[in-house]
Amino acid sequence: MKIIETLSGLKSELLDSQSPLGLVPTMGFLHEGHMALIRRARADNATVAVSIFVNPAQFGPKEDLSSYPRDMVGDLAKLENAHVDVVFVPSTEEVYPEDFDTHVEPGEMAERLEGASRPGHLQSVATVVCKLLSMVRPDRVYFGQKDAQQVLVVKRVNADLNLGAEVVVVPTVRAPDGIAISSRNIYLKPAEREAATVLHRALLLAAKLDSNDVLETKLCLRKLIEGEELAAVDYISVADPETLKEMEVIDRPALLSIAVWIGKARLIDNVLLKPR
Ligand code: PAJ
Repeated sequence: MKIIETLSGLKSELLDSQSPLGLVPTMGFLHEGHMALIRRARADNATVAVSIFVNPAQFGPKEDLSSYPRDMVGDLAKLENAHVDVVFVPSTEEVYPEDFDTHVEPGEMAERLEGASRPGHLQSVATVVCKLLSMVRPDRVYFGQKDAQQVLVVKRVNADLNLGAEVVVVPTVRAPDGIAISSRNIYLKPAEREAATVLHRALLLAAKLDSNDVLETKLCLRKLIEGEELAAVDYISVADPETLKEMEVIDRPALLSIAVWIGKARLIDNVLLKPR
């Protein structure tokens, strides 16, 4: 496994690597969610590259950039074990040189949901993913369904800017209690972790309600989540799975997305609802 920090090193390493090449972009502190993407990439491609870059631009001024968990030694051991070929760990200066001045501006879809709660976040994700795809030029790039809106934005950017990768989406990996595995779960104290199961319980309730009435579904979910003392709803959205425009009636497949504060962690989860 080659560990590479510079763009020039990456170029020469990939020059005569075997294709197809799969890329898994991450911010490190690797967990089973990341590893599912990496295993899928390993199964699909002759060469697998994983990037680890905690992208400062995608954290808001009041967000957790300085406390974002890191574990480079542990990450490298996991990647070695998973038979990854290349690990790209660029410095901030390598990705954003001093004179860096170009940003990718995704369309209206990026202003909904996460975009409304975290202004600028998806623009910064779009920019860094565009840069990673341009630097690595993979045949396939892997993303998790856990961040459903990120997937949609990346697909749009990849298509609109002709970045040429096939975007592969991997299902959300969950802990046995249903919680979607996330680096930010580390912030949860034991009681909060218990409370955090409410996200998954809300998704299950929505499927069980099997109502085509969006308002009714949202009210039931809000009641469930707010019944959990340590939880505070940020948003509950039932939207078109492609455009993320809010729906009023579930008369076709709909993406249910929720964002909930549990203590100082803001957790997200989603599920596709089928029409009754
Ligand atoms: P990060 O949060 O490290 O996640 C890297 C990838 O792992 C993303 O595609 C994310 O959706 C996926 N992932 C995380 N938890 C998952 C889970 N429980 N099941 C399935 N997939 C999961 O997302 C980012 O980094 C960044 O925004 C990035 C795309 C790297 C750009 O900086």
